[in-house]
Amino acid sequence: MGKKKIAVLFGGRSSEHEVSCVSAYSVIQNLSKEKYETVCIGITKEGRWYLYTGPAAKIRDGSWEHSGQTTPAFLPPDRGTGGLVLLAPDGMKLIKIDCVFPVLHGKNGEDGTMQGLLELCGLPFVGCGTLSSAVCMDKAMTHSLLETAGIAGAKYLWFYKNRYRTGSDKIKIKINARLGYPIFVKPAASGSSVGITKINREEELDAAVATAASEGNKILVEEAVSGQEVECAVLGNLDPKAADVVGEIVPSAEFYDYDDKYKSGKSQLNIPARIDAETAAKIRSTAERAFRLLGCRGMARVDFFVRNGKEVLLNELNTIPGFTPISMYPKLWEASGLPYSELLDRLIGFAMEKETD
Ligand SMILES: Nc1ncnc2c1ncn2[C@@H]1O[C@H](COP(=O)(O)OP(=O)(O)O)[C@@H](O)[C@H]1O
Ligand SMILES: [Mg+2]
Repeated sequence: MGKKKIAVLFGGRSSEHEVSCVSAYSVIQNLSKEKYETVCIGITKEGRWYLYTGPAAKIRDGSWEHSGQTTPAFLPPDRGTGGLVLLAPDGMKLIKIDCVFPVLHGKNGEDGTMQGLLELCGLPFVGCGTLSSAVCMDKAMTHSLLETAGIAGAKYLWFYKNRYRTGSDKIKIKINARLGYPIFVKPAASGSSVGITKINREEELDAAVATAASEGNKILVEEAVSGQEVECAVLGNLDPKAADVVGEIVPSAEFYDYDDKYKSGKSQLNIPARIDAETAAKIRSTAERAFRLLGCRGMARVDFFVRNGKEVLLNELNTIPGFTPISMYPKLWEASGLPYSELLDRLIGFAMEKETD
Protein backbone atom coordinates (compact mmCIF):
# COMPACT_ATOMS: atom_id res chain seq x y z
CA MET A 1 0.00 0.00 0.00
CA GLY A 2 1.28 3.42 -0.96
CA LYS A 3 0.85 6.56 1.04
CA LYS A 4 -2.66 7.84 1.56
CA LYS A 5 -3.39 11.16 -0.06
CA ILE A 6 -4.88 13.53 2.48
CA ALA A 7 -6.38 16.77 1.20
CA VAL A 8 -6.10 19.49 3.85
CA LEU A 9 -8.63 22.27 3.28
CA PHE A 10 -7.74 25.64 4.80
CA GLY A 11 -8.70 29.33 4.78
CA GLY A 12 -12.29 29.86 3.76
CA ARG A 13 -14.87 32.61 3.74
CA SER A 14 -15.45 32.93 7.46
CA SER A 15 -14.21 35.54 9.90
CA GLU A 16 -11.89 32.80 11.17
CA HIS A 17 -9.93 32.51 7.91
CA GLU A 18 -6.60 33.37 9.55
CA VAL A 19 -7.13 30.98 12.45
CA SER A 20 -7.85 28.20 10.00
CA CYS A 21 -4.54 28.86 8.22
CA VAL A 22 -2.61 28.60 11.49
CA SER A 23 -4.48 25.41 12.44
CA ALA A 24 -3.88 23.88 9.01
CA TYR A 25 -0.15 24.63 9.17
CA SER A 26 0.05 22.74 12.44
CA VAL A 27 -1.96 19.80 11.08
CA ILE A 28 0.28 19.60 7.99
CA GLN A 29 3.43 19.68 10.15
CA ASN A 30 2.12 16.88 12.34
CA LEU A 31 0.78 14.53 9.64
CA SER A 32 3.13 11.56 9.36
CA LYS A 33 5.32 11.92 6.25
CA GLU A 34 5.68 8.11 6.11
CA LYS A 35 1.97 7.44 6.01
CA TYR A 36 0.55 10.36 4.08
CA GLU A 37 1.05 12.59 1.14
CA THR A 38 -0.54 15.95 1.86
CA VAL A 39 -2.44 17.84 -0.81
CA CYS A 40 -2.99 21.45 0.32
CA ILE A 41 -6.16 23.13 -0.85
CA GLY A 42 -6.52 26.80 0.03
CA ILE A 43 -9.81 28.66 -0.10
CA THR A 44 -9.58 32.45 -0.27
CA LYS A 45 -11.79 34.86 1.67
CA GLU A 46 -13.74 35.31 -1.54
CA GLY A 47 -14.33 31.56 -1.70
CA ARG A 48 -11.96 30.72 -4.58
CA TRP A 49 -10.27 27.30 -4.43
CA TYR A 50 -6.61 26.62 -5.23
CA LEU A 51 -4.20 23.74 -5.03
CA TYR A 52 -1.18 25.18 -3.21
CA THR A 53 2.20 23.51 -3.77
CA GLY A 54 4.59 25.87 -1.95
CA PRO A 55 6.11 25.66 1.53
CA ALA A 56 3.70 25.12 4.43
CA ALA A 57 5.04 28.18 6.29
CA LYS A 58 3.28 30.39 3.76
CA ILE A 59 -0.04 28.90 4.80
CA ARG A 60 0.54 30.02 8.36
CA ASP A 61 1.19 33.66 7.47
CA GLY A 62 -1.34 33.89 4.63
CA SER A 63 1.24 34.57 1.91
CA TRP A 64 0.37 31.31 0.07
CA GLU A 65 -2.36 33.13 -1.81
CA HIS A 66 -0.01 35.39 -3.78
CA SER A 67 2.93 32.98 -3.86
CA GLY A 68 2.58 32.07 -7.53
CA GLN A 69 2.42 28.44 -6.40
CA THR A 70 -1.32 28.07 -6.76
CA THR A 71 -3.47 26.44 -9.41
CA PRO A 72 -7.25 26.85 -9.57
CA ALA A 73 -8.85 23.60 -8.47
CA PHE A 74 -12.11 22.20 -7.10
CA LEU A 75 -13.75 19.10 -5.72
CA PRO A 76 -16.63 18.18 -8.01
CA PRO A 77 -19.79 16.69 -6.49
CA ASP A 78 -19.59 13.94 -9.11
CA ARG A 79 -19.08 10.68 -7.21
CA GLY A 80 -17.05 9.06 -9.94
CA THR A 81 -14.23 11.60 -9.91
CA GLY A 82 -12.74 10.65 -6.56
CA GLY A 83 -10.56 13.67 -6.19
CA LEU A 84 -9.46 17.18 -6.99
CA VAL A 85 -9.83 18.62 -10.48
CA LEU A 86 -6.99 21.00 -11.40
CA LEU A 87 -7.53 23.73 -13.94
CA ALA A 88 -3.88 23.79 -15.03
CA PRO A 89 -2.66 26.04 -17.90
CA ASP A 90 -2.15 22.96 -20.06
CA GLY A 91 -5.57 21.52 -19.39
CA MET A 92 -7.57 19.77 -16.70
CA LYS A 93 -5.92 17.25 -14.44
CA LEU A 94 -7.14 14.97 -11.70
CA ILE A 95 -5.48 14.33 -8.33
CA LYS A 96 -7.00 11.31 -6.61
CA ILE A 97 -7.74 11.87 -2.92
CA ASP A 98 -8.18 9.20 -0.22
CA CYS A 99 -9.46 11.39 2.59
CA VAL A 100 -10.27 15.07 3.12
CA PHE A 101 -9.38 16.91 6.31
CA PRO A 102 -11.34 20.16 6.45
CA VAL A 103 -9.35 22.41 8.80
CA LEU A 104 -11.85 25.22 8.41
CA HIS A 105 -13.64 27.15 11.10
CA GLY A 106 -17.01 28.85 10.96
CA LYS A 107 -19.15 29.70 7.98
CA ASN A 108 -18.91 27.50 4.87
CA GLY A 109 -16.39 25.25 6.56
CA GLU A 110 -17.72 24.04 9.88
CA ASP A 111 -21.43 24.68 9.34
CA GLY A 112 -22.38 21.65 7.24
CA THR A 113 -22.12 23.25 3.79
CA MET A 114 -18.64 21.85 3.11
CA GLN A 115 -19.65 18.56 4.68
CA GLY A 116 -22.60 18.40 2.26
CA LEU A 117 -20.25 18.82 -0.69
CA LEU A 118 -17.90 16.15 0.66
CA GLU A 119 -20.80 13.76 1.17
CA LEU A 120 -21.84 14.33 -2.45
CA CYS A 121 -18.26 13.71 -3.63
CA GLY A 122 -18.29 10.40 -1.80
CA LEU A 123 -14.88 11.15 -0.30
CA PRO A 124 -14.20 10.11 3.30
CA PHE A 125 -13.61 13.18 5.45
CA VAL A 126 -12.53 13.95 8.98
CA GLY A 127 -15.16 15.13 11.44
CA CYS A 128 -18.88 15.61 11.67
CA GLY A 129 -21.38 15.26 8.84
CA THR A 130 -23.82 17.82 7.49
CA LEU A 131 -26.56 17.70 10.09
CA SER A 132 -24.44 17.68 13.23
CA SER A 133 -22.13 20.36 11.83
CA ALA A 134 -25.11 22.61 11.08
CA VAL A 135 -26.74 22.01 14.44
CA CYS A 136 -23.55 22.69 16.40
CA MET A 137 -22.84 25.84 14.38
CA ASP A 138 -26.18 27.32 15.38
CA LYS A 139 -26.00 27.87 19.14
CA ALA A 140 -29.76 28.47 19.45
CA MET A 141 -30.39 25.11 17.76
CA THR A 142 -27.82 23.42 20.01
CA HIS A 143 -29.49 24.88 23.10
CA SER A 144 -32.95 23.68 22.05
CA LEU A 145 -31.81 20.13 21.38
CA LEU A 146 -29.73 19.86 24.54
CA GLU A 147 -32.62 21.21 26.58
CA THR A 148 -34.94 18.45 25.37
CA ALA A 149 -32.39 15.88 26.50
CA GLY A 150 -32.02 17.50 29.93
CA ILE A 151 -28.45 18.68 29.37
CA ALA A 152 -28.12 21.94 31.27
CA GLY A 153 -26.88 25.20 29.75
CA ALA A 154 -27.08 28.92 30.48
CA LYS A 155 -30.58 30.42 30.41
CA TYR A 156 -31.13 31.84 26.96
CA LEU A 157 -33.49 33.25 24.36
CA TRP A 158 -33.06 34.04 20.69
CA PHE A 159 -34.65 36.18 18.00
CA TYR A 160 -34.17 37.31 14.41
CA LYS A 161 -32.71 40.77 13.90
CA ASN A 162 -35.72 42.04 11.94
CA ARG A 163 -37.90 41.20 14.97
CA TYR A 164 -35.68 43.34 17.10
CA ARG A 165 -35.97 46.18 14.64
CA THR A 166 -39.76 46.14 14.79
CA GLY A 167 -40.38 44.95 18.34
CA SER A 168 -37.40 45.50 20.59
CA ASP A 169 -39.70 46.43 23.48
CA LYS A 170 -41.15 42.93 23.67
CA ILE A 171 -37.70 41.38 23.47
CA LYS A 172 -36.45 43.66 26.26
CA ILE A 173 -39.35 42.60 28.47
CA LYS A 174 -38.53 38.94 27.87
CA ILE A 175 -34.85 39.48 28.64
CA ASN A 176 -35.73 41.19 31.91
CA ALA A 177 -38.23 38.51 32.86
CA ARG A 178 -36.16 35.46 31.95
CA LEU A 179 -32.51 36.47 32.24
CA GLY A 180 -31.92 39.81 33.92
CA TYR A 181 -28.49 41.44 33.48
CA PRO A 182 -25.56 40.99 32.84
CA ILE A 183 -26.06 39.07 29.62
CA PHE A 184 -24.04 37.89 26.63
CA VAL A 185 -25.33 38.90 23.21
CA LYS A 186 -24.00 36.74 20.37
CA PRO A 187 -24.59 35.84 16.77
CA ALA A 188 -26.24 32.39 16.87
CA ALA A 189 -23.69 31.21 14.33
CA SER A 190 -20.16 32.46 14.58
CA GLY A 191 -16.93 31.47 16.25
CA SER A 192 -13.78 32.83 17.80
CA SER A 193 -15.90 35.25 19.85
CA VAL A 194 -16.57 37.42 16.77
CA GLY A 195 -19.65 39.63 17.27
CA ILE A 196 -20.04 38.80 20.99
CA THR A 197 -20.58 41.45 23.66
CA LYS A 198 -21.18 41.23 27.38
CA ILE A 199 -23.51 43.94 28.63
CA ASN A 200 -24.61 45.05 32.08
CA ARG A 201 -27.62 47.24 31.25
CA GLU A 202 -30.56 47.40 28.88
CA GLU A 203 -29.24 50.70 27.47
CA GLU A 204 -26.34 48.76 25.92
CA LEU A 205 -28.59 46.26 24.16
CA ASP A 206 -29.13 48.12 20.85
CA ALA A 207 -25.41 48.37 20.21
CA ALA A 208 -24.75 44.77 21.23
CA VAL A 209 -27.53 43.50 18.95
CA ALA A 210 -26.16 45.57 16.06
CA THR A 211 -22.70 44.06 16.60
CA ALA A 212 -24.06 40.51 16.67
CA ALA A 213 -26.35 41.20 13.69
CA SER A 214 -23.38 42.03 11.49
CA GLU A 215 -22.49 38.31 11.63
CA GLY A 216 -25.93 36.94 10.81
CA ASN A 217 -29.70 37.17 11.17
CA LYS A 218 -30.15 35.15 14.30
CA ILE A 219 -29.21 36.59 17.69
CA LEU A 220 -28.74 34.63 20.89
CA VAL A 221 -28.90 36.17 24.36
CA GLU A 222 -27.68 34.30 27.43
CA GLU A 223 -27.40 34.97 31.13
CA ALA A 224 -23.77 35.71 31.95
CA VAL A 225 -22.51 32.70 33.86
CA SER A 226 -19.84 33.50 36.37
CA GLY A 227 -17.62 30.53 36.88
CA GLN A 228 -14.86 28.56 35.23
CA GLU A 229 -14.56 27.71 31.52
CA VAL A 230 -13.73 24.07 31.03
CA GLU A 231 -13.18 22.22 27.74
CA CYS A 232 -13.42 18.54 26.92
CA ALA A 233 -12.00 16.79 23.83
CA VAL A 234 -14.08 13.97 22.33
CA LEU A 235 -12.94 11.49 19.68
CA GLY A 236 -14.66 8.58 17.92
CA ASN A 237 -17.66 7.66 15.82
CA LEU A 238 -20.60 5.74 17.26
CA ASP A 239 -18.83 5.06 20.55
CA PRO A 240 -17.08 8.37 21.24
CA LYS A 241 -14.63 8.80 24.10
CA ALA A 242 -13.74 11.93 26.01
CA ALA A 243 -10.07 12.54 26.78
CA ASP A 244 -9.18 11.70 30.38
CA VAL A 245 -7.84 15.16 31.00
CA VAL A 246 -10.17 18.15 30.77
CA GLY A 247 -8.75 21.64 30.43
CA GLU A 248 -9.57 25.08 31.72
CA ILE A 249 -9.26 28.50 30.19
CA VAL A 250 -8.66 31.54 32.33
CA PRO A 251 -9.33 34.56 30.11
CA SER A 252 -7.14 37.60 30.58
CA ALA A 253 -9.90 39.98 29.48
CA GLU A 254 -13.42 40.15 30.85
CA PHE A 255 -14.26 37.17 28.68
CA TYR A 256 -12.44 34.91 26.24
CA ASP A 257 -12.53 37.22 23.21
CA TYR A 258 -10.80 37.03 19.83
CA ASP A 259 -7.62 38.88 20.87
CA ASP A 260 -7.32 36.78 23.96
CA LYS A 261 -7.70 33.59 21.94
CA TYR A 262 -5.23 34.35 19.17
CA LYS A 263 -3.36 37.60 19.62
CA SER A 264 -2.39 38.61 23.13
CA GLY A 265 -1.73 35.04 24.24
CA LYS A 266 -2.34 36.26 27.77
CA SER A 267 -5.14 33.90 28.62
CA GLN A 268 -3.97 30.98 30.65
CA LEU A 269 -4.64 27.29 30.07
CA ASN A 270 -4.84 24.98 33.03
CA ILE A 271 -4.32 21.37 32.06
CA PRO A 272 -5.83 19.68 33.99
CA ALA A 273 -8.65 22.03 34.97
CA ARG A 274 -8.89 23.07 38.61
CA ILE A 275 -12.01 21.03 39.36
CA ASP A 276 -12.65 17.97 41.49
CA ALA A 277 -12.69 14.44 40.05
CA GLU A 278 -16.45 14.11 40.31
CA THR A 279 -17.10 17.30 38.34
CA ALA A 280 -14.54 16.25 35.72
CA ALA A 281 -16.29 12.89 35.36
CA LYS A 282 -19.64 14.62 34.91
CA ILE A 283 -18.15 16.87 32.23
CA ARG A 284 -16.68 13.93 30.36
CA SER A 285 -19.88 11.90 30.40
CA THR A 286 -22.00 14.93 29.45
CA ALA A 287 -19.64 15.69 26.55
CA GLU A 288 -19.93 12.12 25.23
CA ARG A 289 -23.69 12.21 25.60
CA ALA A 290 -24.04 15.52 23.78
CA PHE A 291 -21.73 14.23 21.02
CA ARG A 292 -23.95 11.18 20.47
CA LEU A 293 -27.19 13.11 20.84
CA LEU A 294 -26.26 15.61 18.15
CA GLY A 295 -24.92 12.92 15.83
CA CYS A 296 -21.30 14.05 15.86
CA ARG A 297 -18.59 11.94 14.21
CA GLY A 298 -14.84 11.93 14.48
CA MET A 299 -14.20 14.84 16.78
CA ALA A 300 -15.67 17.70 18.77
CA ARG A 301 -14.45 19.94 21.54
CA VAL A 302 -17.23 20.37 24.02
CA ASP A 303 -17.07 23.56 26.10
CA PHE A 304 -18.61 24.06 29.51
CA PHE A 305 -19.04 26.54 32.30
CA VAL A 306 -18.64 25.31 35.87
CA ARG A 307 -20.50 27.45 38.38
CA ASN A 308 -19.53 27.34 42.04
CA GLY A 309 -17.12 24.51 41.33
CA LYS A 310 -19.95 22.01 40.85
CA GLU A 311 -22.74 23.01 38.50
CA VAL A 312 -21.98 21.90 34.94
CA LEU A 313 -23.45 23.93 32.08
CA LEU A 314 -22.72 23.05 28.46
CA ASN A 315 -21.74 26.14 26.47
CA GLU A 316 -21.11 24.87 22.93
CA LEU A 317 -19.76 22.10 20.74
CA ASN A 318 -17.03 22.94 18.24
CA THR A 319 -17.06 20.40 15.44
CA ILE A 320 -13.75 21.61 13.98
CA PRO A 321 -11.80 22.74 17.03
CA GLY A 322 -8.64 24.81 16.77
CA PHE A 323 -5.52 22.84 15.85
CA THR A 324 -2.95 25.58 16.44
CA PRO A 325 0.04 24.78 18.66
CA ILE A 326 -1.73 26.47 21.60
CA SER A 327 -5.13 24.89 20.90
CA MET A 328 -6.89 22.94 23.59
CA TYR A 329 -8.10 19.96 21.52
CA PRO A 330 -4.68 18.55 20.56
CA LYS A 331 -3.23 19.60 23.93
CA LEU A 332 -5.85 17.67 25.90
CA TRP A 333 -5.16 14.52 23.88
CA GLU A 334 -1.44 14.92 24.42
CA ALA A 335 -2.00 15.32 28.14
CA SER A 336 -4.14 12.17 28.03
CA GLY A 337 -1.37 10.17 26.34
CA LEU A 338 -2.21 10.59 22.64
CA PRO A 339 0.45 12.64 20.80
CA TYR A 340 -0.63 15.08 18.06
CA SER A 341 0.49 12.87 15.12
CA GLU A 342 -1.25 9.81 16.51
CA LEU A 343 -4.39 11.88 17.10
CA LEU A 344 -4.36 12.77 13.39
CA ASP A 345 -3.95 9.05 12.52
CA ARG A 346 -6.96 8.24 14.65
CA LEU A 347 -9.05 11.00 13.08
CA ILE A 348 -8.20 9.78 9.58
CA GLY A 349 -8.96 6.22 10.70
CA PHE A 350 -12.40 7.25 11.96
CA ALA A 351 -13.04 9.11 8.70
CA MET A 352 -12.23 6.04 6.62
CA GLU A 353 -14.09 3.60 8.84
CA LYS A 354 -17.18 2.16 7.20
CA GLU A 355 -19.93 2.60 9.73
CA THR A 356 -22.07 -0.39 10.49
CA ASP A 357 -25.19 -0.20 12.62
N1 LIG B 1 -23.36 32.84 28.82
C1 LIG B 1 -22.08 33.15 29.05
N2 LIG B 1 -21.63 33.37 30.31
C2 LIG B 1 -20.33 33.69 30.55
N3 LIG B 1 -19.40 33.82 29.58
C3 LIG B 1 -19.78 33.61 28.31
C4 LIG B 1 -21.13 33.27 27.98
N4 LIG B 1 -21.19 33.12 26.64
C5 LIG B 1 -19.97 33.39 26.16
N5 LIG B 1 -19.10 33.69 27.15
C6 LIG B 1 -17.69 34.08 26.98
O1 LIG B 1 -17.44 34.40 25.62
C7 LIG B 1 -16.56 33.46 25.01
C8 LIG B 1 -17.00 33.15 23.59
O2 LIG B 1 -18.33 32.69 23.58
P1 LIG B 1 -18.77 31.34 22.85
O3 LIG B 1 -20.23 31.20 23.02
O4 LIG B 1 -17.93 30.22 23.32
O5 LIG B 1 -18.51 31.70 21.32
P2 LIG B 1 -17.44 31.21 20.24
O6 LIG B 1 -18.15 30.22 19.39
O7 LIG B 1 -17.12 32.44 19.51
O8 LIG B 1 -16.29 30.59 20.99
C9 LIG B 1 -16.59 32.26 25.94
O9 LIG B 1 -15.40 31.52 25.83
C10 LIG B 1 -16.75 32.94 27.30
O10 LIG B 1 -15.53 33.51 27.74
MG1 LIG C 1 -16.35 29.17 22.46
